[in-house]
Amino acid sequence: MRKNKNAVLLAVLVSISVFLFASLASAAEAPKVVIAHRAASGYLPDHTLPAVAMAYAFGTHFIEQDVALTKDGIFVVIHDVHLDSTTNVAEVFPGRHREDGRYYVIDFTLEEIKSLEVNERINVKTGEAVFPGRFPVGAARFEMPTLEEEIEMIQGLNKSTGLNIGIYPELKNPALHHKEGFEMEKMLLEVLTKYGYTSSDSNVFVQCFDHDSLIKLRELGTELPLVALLNRAVTAEDLDYIATFADGIGPSMKLIETDGGEPVDDWALVKLAHERGLVVHPYTLRKDSMPSAFQDFEELLEHYYYEIGVDGLFTDFPDLAMKVLEKGK
Ligand code: G3P
Ligand code: CA
Repeated sequence: MRKNKNAVLLAVLVSISVFLFASLASAAEAPKVVIAHRAASGYLPDHTLPAVAMAYAFGTHFIEQDVALTKDGIFVVIHDVHLDSTTNVAEVFPGRHREDGRYYVIDFTLEEIKSLEVNERINVKTGEAVFPGRFPVGAARFEMPTLEEEIEMIQGLNKSTGLNIGIYPELKNPALHHKEGFEMEKMLLEVLTKYGYTSSDSNVFVQCFDHDSLIKLRELGTELPLVALLNRAVTAEDLDYIATFADGIGPSMKLIETDGGEPVDDWALVKLAHERGLVVHPYTLRKDSMPSAFQDFEELLEHYYYEIGVDGLFTDFPDLAMKVLEKGK
């Protein structure tokens, strides 16, 4: 009897090991990717089409689109739900702010937004550039693209170059959009379907901090790969739940290790995610805003890809991440 029990125990342990090994192997085997964060935002203003073309020319695997809706229900590509950090809205439409002093994308029509100049990001309180070493504020004129314009550009380049670079849209503040009467999730799926992103192997990840929004996307029947963004610590049980609707997590770097380079619980988040078959795409690696433990950006990238073992990462400097991957371990 005891012998039988031991045999059963052994069989269970072998099955668990095989399952864990298979999960780890599948996560580890997939090619590592570079996600151009807000396009090539280290060199040109966030989410502008020139920044998209530049990221594309670097051969980055995915280009990110943060999306918000205009008053007339069109997706524009902008990091914030506000216009004032990256456009001259206060000059063009003085007084059109809300009580909090901010100018909301949702309060302006697409035509109005197209009349604005998009600039390098500023701190709205000080008026100073957030990254002083980057493209000079106001030195050239850029406009805000719609999501459709950006997809058309990426797909056009995919045709003319023969490459297949993916998109990585993020639904920004779904709760605000729901309050304004827009079914943001359904509207995004309509746009993605129009451009052929319909299945689990489409070259796209859809990301959101609001996990209810990702669940809504699943309820609407999408098979598209989904990434749950994380800005706070999660438990193994939370990850079990996330794995029921998402294909990956996009954690803040701070959930993986401290600024001083101390791993958070031996990089447990990455390991636990991989055990559940979730890919891990942390944000955001920046040459001009590095953790204090690192002086060299290439070293930081290698550390994330090869020591911590992430599957991809968001970076404002996609060319440098591509070089690290091309060089290999
Ligand atoms: O989407 C990944 C990363 O971009 C999340 O942060 O604030 O830059 O959109 P944020
Ligand atoms: Ca984003």
